[in-house]
Amino acid sequence: MSTATALAHPNIALIKYWGNRDDALRIPSNGSISMNLDGLSTRTTVSFQPSLPFDELIINGREVTGKGLERVSDILDLVRAQAGIKDKAEVISENNFPSGAGIASSAAAFAALALASSHAAGWTPSEEQLSRLARRGSGSACRSIPAGFVEWRAGTCDEDSFAVSIAPPEHWDLADCIAIVHAGHKKTGSTEGHHIAGTSPLQSARVADAPRRLDICREAILRRDFDALAHIIELDSDMMHAVMQTSNPPLLYWQAATVEIFHAVRDWRASGLAVAYTVDAGPNVHVICPREVQKEMEHRLREIPGVQDVLLAKVGGATRMNG
Ligand code: PMV
Repeated sequence: MSTATALAHPNIALIKYWGNRDDALRIPSNGSISMNLDGLSTRTTVSFQPSLPFDELIINGREVTGKGLERVSDILDLVRAQAGIKDKAEVISENNFPSGAGIASSAAAFAALALASSHAAGWTPSEEQLSRLARRGSGSACRSIPAGFVEWRAGTCDEDSFAVSIAPPEHWDLADCIAIVHAGHKKTGSTEGHHIAGTSPLQSARVADAPRRLDICREAILRRDFDALAHIIELDSDMMHAVMQTSNPPLLYWQAATVEIFHAVRDWRASGLAVAYTVDAGPNVHVICPREVQKEMEHRLREIPGVQDVLLAKVGGATRMNG
């Protein structure tokens, strides 16, 4: 029996990934930029056992079968092929953030799975190989592998589509205040969303303009220019949701409180506070700010009707071995 445990953080996209040029390999239509979220994490233990008849998956103490298990077995198959082994594995995963709180957990889950399973199988991949492997489980997971502020260069095939760190966590002391406005599971997940992105007449314009937004965002991070960052991440989030809302079938992830927060954030910024919003494939709002104003932001967000909870994170490190 061979066992390894890894820990990974989820990440919040500042320039979003939406739509694939290759759905099966999860090669994205455009590059993306994110920051890892310290404070939120997934810890996964993988053990390959000759006696197991099939792979087993336990998430937060509950056995998972069906599609969820299939997605994990697909990654284990890639690892088994690399390592030249046949044993089935037991996978035990725990999130320290409330599950079903509407926080995308697949990025941290597949990043931790990629590292734990490859080490348990006796294969030590490079960071690039690990990012490519995590990408196969969930595109955004490739961005949870490197540390801090991360860019996923879209590439055109399996070999050149992976993420790299553009700045370490200590480069810029930013924070994320995640305003939970709805804790249920979303009706349409991102795998289906990527698949229909091209049905929106706006997607081609969003993709064509992506290199410009990526340049502005990367520069804003490297120069620690919050005002430039605020404008580009709100534009990028709004553009992705415009595509979602105009695809077939249309995807409307926002709730009334989501829009309330957009207005509040813009008012606060107009009054001189460094704050900006971004939203993934769900109704909850990630409010990005420098860490010195995080407490104030948390307090203000909690006063908005419809905000059920606020989770706090700072910029996180790379996926790593744990215990
Ligand atoms: O990695 P996926 O397939 O769950 O897609 C993530 C999509 C968004 O969260 C909406 C954007 C992003 O870049 O993370």
